[in-house]
Amino acid sequence: MLKIAHRGAKGYEPENTLKSFQKALDLNADGIELDVHLSSDGHIIVIHDETIDRTTNGKGFVNAFSLAELKTFLIDGKYQIPTLKEVFDLVDKKCLINIELKGLGTAGKVVALIEEYIAEKNWNYKDFIVSSFEWDLLQETSNLNSNILIGVLTEEDLDKALAFAELIKAFAINPDFQLLSSEKVKLIQEKGFLVFPWTVDDEKDIKKIKSYNVDGIISDFPDKL
Ligand code: G3P
Ligand code: CA
Repeated sequence: MLKIAHRGAKGYEPENTLKSFQKALDLNADGIELDVHLSSDGHIIVIHDETIDRTTNGKGFVNAFSLAELKTFLIDGKYQIPTLKEVFDLVDKKCLINIELKGLGTAGKVVALIEEYIAEKNWNYKDFIVSSFEWDLLQETSNLNSNILIGVLTEEDLDKALAFAELIKAFAINPDFQLLSSEKVKLIQEKGFLVFPWTVDDEKDIKKIKSYNVDGIISDFPDKL
């Protein structure tokens, strides 16, 4: 069962920072999960919200700023917002990277960056999973490169997610853990998909979800898994 650190080890360090991804590596996580939007000049920016308001000392939409402008804002007074490339270079193939596409235009840019790291830096398709709640972005990803491993995110309807996963030949279903039961996990796995639920932080929930024999868990506390 893979231990995947949510937005880096968000339970210990500020989410989606190089510091939080380094913490995940230090805790021997098998993978990290992160979120991406585009800057106004087309760079892939690692940040959860569509604005910088909650996590930085700035205000405004991520896609209203250039990369240079975004780099002037700070998280917790000391960390810069990272690019996806900076995270790839930090991780350097040491663990799986689950990239959650959040914004318009992210699919094409992320596919191109994955292809660059595979062609030029000896990375493999198994080093990445691309996931999203916006299934049209997953369809786009799959159309652009059918070798990329796809995780279908859902917080509502497992049956619909399963049907879509079959349609695009996904690798995994990434559901809200509260949607799961032992039977549902078995059904998804019998159809050939891995199951990576999120965000499982509470010890009791971790125990329960592990008893369903899921393939991995996404948690703010990867060491608790
Ligand atoms: O990838 C799973 C989880 O990260 C989805 O929810 O809101 O934390 O991006 P959120
Ligand atoms: Ca996410």
